[in-house]
Parts: sequence; C-alpha cells; structure tokens
Amino acid sequence: MLRRDDFGADFTWGVASAAFQVEGAWDADGKRPSVWDDAGRNGRIRGGRVGDTAIDTYHRLDEDLDLIAALGVDANRFSVSWPRVFGDGRGPWNAAGGDYYDRLIDGCLERGLEPWLTVHHWDLPSALQREGGWTRRGIVEDFATFAAAVAERYGDRVRNWMVFNEPLSVVGHIAAGIHTRPGPHPMQALASLHHVNLACAEAGRRMRDVLGPEARIGTTNVFTLAAPFDATGSLRRAQRRFEAFLVDSFLDPAAGLGYPFEDSVFLKPMRRYVRDGDLESAAFDYDFMGLQYYGPLPIRRVPLVGGLPVPTLRSAEANVRSSVGIPVEPDGLLELLRRYSTHPACRRIVITESGFGMNDRLVDGRVRDDLRVWYARTHLEAVRTAVAEGLPVDGFFQWSYADNIEWVLGREARFGLVYVDYDDDYRRIPKDSYRWFQRLLTEPTGVD
Ligand code: BGC
Repeated sequence: MLRRDDFGADFTWGVASAAFQVEGAWDADGKRPSVWDDAGRNGRIRGGRVGDTAIDTYHRLDEDLDLIAALGVDANRFSVSWPRVFGDGRGPWNAAGGDYYDRLIDGCLERGLEPWLTVHHWDLPSALQREGGWTRRGIVEDFATFAAAVAERYGDRVRNWMVFNEPLSVVGHIAAGIHTRPGPHPMQALASLHHVNLACAEAGRRMRDVLGPEARIGTTNVFTLAAPFDATGSLRRAQRRFEAFLVDSFLDPAAGLGYPFEDSVFLKPMRRYVRDGDLESAAFDYDFMGLQYYGPLPIRRVPLVGGLPVPTLRSAEANVRSSVGIPVEPDGLLELLRRYSTHPACRRIVITESGFGMNDRLVDGRVRDDLRVWYARTHLEAVRTAVAEGLPVDGFFQWSYADNIEWVLGREARFGLVYVDYDDDYRRIPKDSYRWFQRLLTEPTGVD
C-alpha cells in the first residue's frame, strides 16, 4: 500500500506543466513569438504548428485548475512565457499578457493550490534567438532583468520559485540545432552551458533582492545516472564522465565548486568561455534543487566505435521504456536521491518532475493507463524509502496534469493524468491514473 501519510505532513504534492506545452494563444494579447513557435513553423515539431493552440489552457484556465484541485494536490507548478510578458525579450512589460498569470495565480490560491512558478521553461523570445540566444554572453543580463520583473510582478502571491527548467535540455537543443540548423554544434552548446549557469545565478540574486528572505528560490535540473548501475572498471569510468557532464556541470558551479573539468573530457573546450570571476558569479545558494528524473542513460561498449563505451538508448537494458524511448528504472531515482542529498547545491530536494509518456488510447470513453500507474507507484515507493532514510526530499510533482505538446514530438507522446481529445474540441477526460492519484491523495487507506 502507498499512503499519503507515509511521506509526512510537510511533503508537497503537485502537478507540473510549462507555458508553451499547454497555453496555446501563441499571438494573443500582445504575445510575441518564441523559438518554439518558430520550431512549429519550421517543421521541427511533429504535426507542425500544434503549439499554436497547444491544449488551449489560456482559454480553459478555470476548467484546468478545477481538475488539478480535484486531484487533491497541494501545488500547481507552471512557467511564465517570456515573450508573453516581456515582448521581444527586453520588455516593456505586456500588461495584457501578464494578466493571464494573475488569473492563474489567483485561481490557484482560490482553490487552495500553492502556485509554484518556473521563470523560464525553454520558450526564449525569437528576437533574442536572432541575436544568438544563449550563445551570446549578454543574455545573462537579459534573463536576469526578465526574472526580476517576474518576481516584482508576482512576488506578492508566489512563495516558491524555480529559476530555470533543465538547462541541460536547452544545451541539448542548441547542440542539435533545433532553433538554428541541424547540428551537431558542440561549441555553441558549451558556450550556452556556461551562459545559462551564469544567468541562473544572476537571476537568483536579483530575485532575492526583490523577494526578500521569505521566498524559496530554487531551480530544476535533469538528474540521471548511467546504467548498468553495477558497472566496474573502464565502463564505470566512462559512465562517470557522462554523469559529470549531464548533472555535475550544473550543480557544481551553483555550489561555487566550479566545473568538473577533471571528471569530464567533454567540458574541457568550454574553458575558453570562462572568464576571471565567473566561477564566483555562477554560484547561487538555492533554497531547494528541483530533481527531474525520467530514467537512466544506458551506456555500453559499441564495436563500431572501437569498443568505446557510449550512451545508447537502444540497449536491451530495460524491460519497459516510455514512448519517448527512455528506459524505466525506479531504483535509479533512489540512487540519485542518496547520491545527491550530500551535494552542497541540494540543501533540500523537490522532485519537480516525474512522469511517463505513452501513446494512450481513448476506448469507450476511458483511458486505461495501467503502465503509468505502475510507473508512478514504483517511483513513489523509491521516494518513500528515501523519506524513511531521512534524506532531504520534501515534494513530488507529477508531469503532467494533462497531455500536452511534447516539444519536437508534438502531440505524439502523452504524459497527462488527463487525456486531451484533440479530435473533439480539446475535451478533457481523466485517465485511470488520475483516479489513482486522487485516491492516493484523498483516501486515508491509500492505494495499491
Ligand atoms: C521537460 C518537460 C517534458 C518532459 C517529458 C522534461 O525534460 O521539463 O517539458 O515534457 O521532460 O519529456
């Protein structure tokens, strides 16, 4: 049995989403285009311009907030669209666009939901991308100015903040050339990695000035580890190189430790972008670290590249994988919580995303998503063990409350607890997993 009580009274339960993935209304009320609006136009998203409407939450806010509240969660995590509130990237503040987040925040509070605000979840204004986006060092100042404006505007009602969603993913998009031309672009990615780290820390400081000591300012990162977990020798050393690059190159600078150049050869060419004083500037004392885990990264020796160990999602390691190709490994979550709870950037850990992508089907008005329930149960069991061990983890946010636009995959991978029927006016239909979460969160006897 899994019971809400097992996690303690101070544990925060929530759902998470992001502006581009749900809002739609891509050009409403003065909103300017983002790089993801462009991606839809440029054929980089399956289905094309599906993000223009996304799941139309901009116009269905009350219905969505009602569904979230009825689930029994404490909190609703969402992001602010930079080009909706700050035009082409540098303001002025767009009052009509900003009103949407007033309605969202007030709607949460009226329903007893705590608003958890992510300042940025990937939808960079297109105009800034034309200037080089994250590869340009000046973006640090642009981002910090935007973050301070958001804090200024909503700080009277929002207590929990996340500066940035998964910098690693943005670095990956840049490496792949999603917003430019197909990659690889390793040097652009490394320049961006450093600039994002500087931007997050600078934004954190400006937000602290605006919000004062009471606000909880965190951020979120991809957390992953290399499988198989029992590797030894040179395979384990190769795994360590990937883990250092994927996770520590964001956590270490935040903690003032600089970059793990020794552990990860991939990072070495980045030294040319690091100037005197940057390692101090890249540090910020976050109140909590958002851990986002979907699965491990399997690494194996591949004969084609001379037996070198390389990541391969095609390996046979996992019995189950999500429809985005990620292998499922709940023990990985426990291992990550154990490993990183002593990292100085992780004073507290909140699981700000966990979820399972599938090609759900609506059959006779019902979505039987047993696999998603199994995924949630096994991962929550791992979290329960971590809590029992006294690790500093105090929240869990399910990705996502409803199906939405899964970036380049468009509508093709569904992660929601609520099904969105794109063929029937975006109708919302709670899946079996929604009912399961609702029982877990509202019934004292818990769930199987
Ligand atoms: C992102 C979400 C995304 C989810 C599922 C995370 O990396 O923050 O925006 O939808 O993974 O792939």
